[in-house]
Amino acid sequence: MCGIVAYLGHREAKPILLEGLKRLEYRGYDSAGIATVNGKLEVCRTVGRVSVLEDTLRKLPGFHGSIGLAHTRWATHGEVSERNAHPHRDDKRGIALIHNGTIENYAALKQYLREKGHVFTSETDTEVLAMLISELYDGDLEAAVQNALREVRGAYAIAVLCEKEQGVLVVARKGSPLIVGVGDREFVVASDASAIVAHTTQVFELDDYQVAKLSRDAKGETTFRTSTLDNVPVTPKIRQLEFELEQIELGSHETFMMKEICEQPRCLRMTLQGRVSEREGRIVLGGIAEHARELIRARQFVLTGQGTAYHAAMLGEYFLEDLAKVSAKTEYASELRYRNPVVVDNTVVIAVSQSGETADTLAALRELKERGALTLGVVNVVGSSISRETDAGVYLRVGPEIGVASTKAFTGQVMVLAMVSLYIARRRFMSMDTAGEMLGELSRVPELMERILEQSNHIRKVCEKYVDRENWLFLGRGYNYPVALEGALKLKEISYIHAEGMPAAEMKHGPIALINDGMPAVFVANKGPQYDKVMLNIEQVRSRGGRVIAVATEGDQEIKSYADDVFYVPPISDPLSPLLTVVPLQLLACHAAVLRGHDVDKPRNLAKSVTVE
Ligand code: F6R
Repeated sequence: MCGIVAYLGHREAKPILLEGLKRLEYRGYDSAGIATVNGKLEVCRTVGRVSVLEDTLRKLPGFHGSIGLAHTRWATHGEVSERNAHPHRDDKRGIALIHNGTIENYAALKQYLREKGHVFTSETDTEVLAMLISELYDGDLEAAVQNALREVRGAYAIAVLCEKEQGVLVVARKGSPLIVGVGDREFVVASDASAIVAHTTQVFELDDYQVAKLSRDAKGETTFRTSTLDNVPVTPKIRQLEFELEQIELGSHETFMMKEICEQPRCLRMTLQGRVSEREGRIVLGGIAEHARELIRARQFVLTGQGTAYHAAMLGEYFLEDLAKVSAKTEYASELRYRNPVVVDNTVVIAVSQSGETADTLAALRELKERGALTLGVVNVVGSSISRETDAGVYLRVGPEIGVASTKAFTGQVMVLAMVSLYIARRRFMSMDTAGEMLGELSRVPELMERILEQSNHIRKVCEKYVDRENWLFLGRGYNYPVALEGALKLKEISYIHAEGMPAAEMKHGPIALINDGMPAVFVANKGPQYDKVMLNIEQVRSRGGRVIAVATEGDQEIKSYADDVFYVPPISDPLSPLLTVVPLQLLACHAAVLRGHDVDKPRNLAKSVTVE
């Protein structure tokens, strides 16, 4: 969702900004724009891909200089159009601004600014902020930004420049992500590290309601100053980015989604590294160690997230109840935040999120924290808002996820939630032997996954048979019900095929009416406690003309007489089976999207990180 890049330094800004925008394309957007200053402010905005902006700029003279801003917009206020794209500007003072987030009181501010004589050309909340800064500008851009932001309600990450101060870039944040890269006599600012890592690995983040003034003097030397909105100086912590450029490049793969599906074994080895000892039945999770006592004594766990993260959270609930024998429930963060929930004493809330920036998840977390819950984050992006606002947490360590459809983050989340549950279970009553056995299995997941990935061609061939069908069902029971939900979500988000996931037994309470001749029904039918029941459900679909694709356990020959097509996964204990059964469904969705001719990594209407409600 909206991407921000800004540059101040000694090199030409335009190519750095365009390259940064391309790195941020995966976040999802519908239009793009750039502003540079070289004597005068120049702005160019286009609808569509960054390549359209690039082509347009190629035909235009100018856009030189070593200070600039660029943006990819994901429409929230106003249609997708050039005039609504960022940067927004005020020509009177030569101010340009890019913004990620939403200004809630923009209507009142707009009215005030209209009365002051400002003329608006867009329908956006962002233009209001550009005009407000301009209205308050008195020769000091940093002060104008601080003063303007004190009047604003909502969420923002912004970068602002002014024709009258050509060596100054001002950035600020509240609620939306923003990272400042500190290079050699240059700064690269971006919504996420993928647009920075090619230039520097030294970065700092701002806390909410903080502003950074990045400056370059006449000799080209750079300095920065960070402060609160009330101009109280603050010292940010500079940290080293923990990933390499190769991690955000495609390599030999055609899509980031396929790359990320295939790298799951390697990534999950990182998730496990140094955290489990099979022999001692021991789990070491430094990020929650300080709160071990509270976790063991917790009366209730509330897990929350959205989309794929919600499905992982559901599995966390099952692990906690089944393995650690403690009451747990999962809720969509978007519902939890407004539901006025009862938080009993000793409640722990676990926020599950790849990006760590999902607006609903963050808001639900804050709400439950206010009500006294201990907060844990199960997050991928280091330094993200959720990781900063939680009391404790465990990082996924699966590396940057660029594919819009979440894959490796899902298995990373499930693995971390299994570890957290075993950590608690072992400290409550699980024996060393039982814990050791489960940890042994957990450690073997990466190599078992490798066996499933070898079936990718077979899965593509099966997919070819059904890919023209517009309605699919995904069915599973117990631990594999969330997997059915995840399989359906993967298929719909990148193939635009209608798919519904549900508990296999629920089908006969209504959805069975949908089944017609040739309708594909994907059953997660691995050998688990409910295997026989799932076979019954398969029969119910087959007898109505449905075509059955089964995810089954290696060695199960019987399934072939029930299912039209089978994808096999290695045997594993039931609780850990989702880590394997989800992989064929990820591959199925990815192949289906490619076969239908869709851009797997840039699905329509979707944003990678949903930072608005
Ligand atoms: C689906 C997908 C989304 C995200 C959801 C939460 O493939 O990626 O459903 O899982 O938007 O995002 P995070 O995990 O960043 O909080």
